[in-house]
Amino acid sequence: MFISFEGLDGSGKTTQAALLAEAARAAGWEVVSVREPGGTAAGERVRTLLLDPEARIAPWAEALLYAAARAQLVAEVIRPALDRGATVIADRYVDSSLAYQGVARGLGVAEVLEVNLAATGRLLPDRTILLELPAGRAAERRDAVADRIESEAEHFHASVAGGFADVARRFPDRVVVVDGSGPPADVAARVQAAVGL
Ligand code: TYD
Repeated sequence: MFISFEGLDGSGKTTQAALLAEAARAAGWEVVSVREPGGTAAGERVRTLLLDPEARIAPWAEALLYAAARAQLVAEVIRPALDRGATVIADRYVDSSLAYQGVARGLGVAEVLEVNLAATGRLLPDRTILLELPAGRAAERRDAVADRIESEAEHFHASVAGGFADVARRFPDRVVVVDGSGPPADVAARVQAAVGL
């Protein structure tokens, strides 16, 4: 099974991806955890470029760099893990590109989806957990030192939030919206229910 976590920076998805991996391993599942962008030697180099506050990157270059890191991660890690029956838990995947590049950067959801389907051999998750927080709460939780994407203006993050809502509407069979507020253990219980653990 392939599970991805999505949400704004500061939505708690990294914590929840780790808690789900822990619970799934305790239940006897073989789990492979990945994070995006990165997770491979080539992908981590692309990540460094993408998150460098000094880098000047045009919107389509940005979308294609995220897709390139993802293509490498699928080829090197995700596909082989799924083929041997492991569960893959991804901290971000294609839907981040749809929300950040497709909607917030204005490239178009359909266009960004098309390049990502090409890059991944049309691999989409079985389940996507979209962690939702009341507007403004994610910003409060964001790191003090912002990377190139985090340092975007507040209207950009509002646009990303709208992008994720759009993604949830487009893929109702795959995407489950989970309330990310409250103690992490409570959120984790909601996440586990959403993946049938
Ligand atoms: P992430 O590693 O989740 O940041 P953090 O660990 O600080 O939460 O993601 C890095 C940034 O990249 C984040 O601001 C979201 C952005 N991003 C995109 O814009 N498009 C994408 O396809 C992905 C995967 C991430």
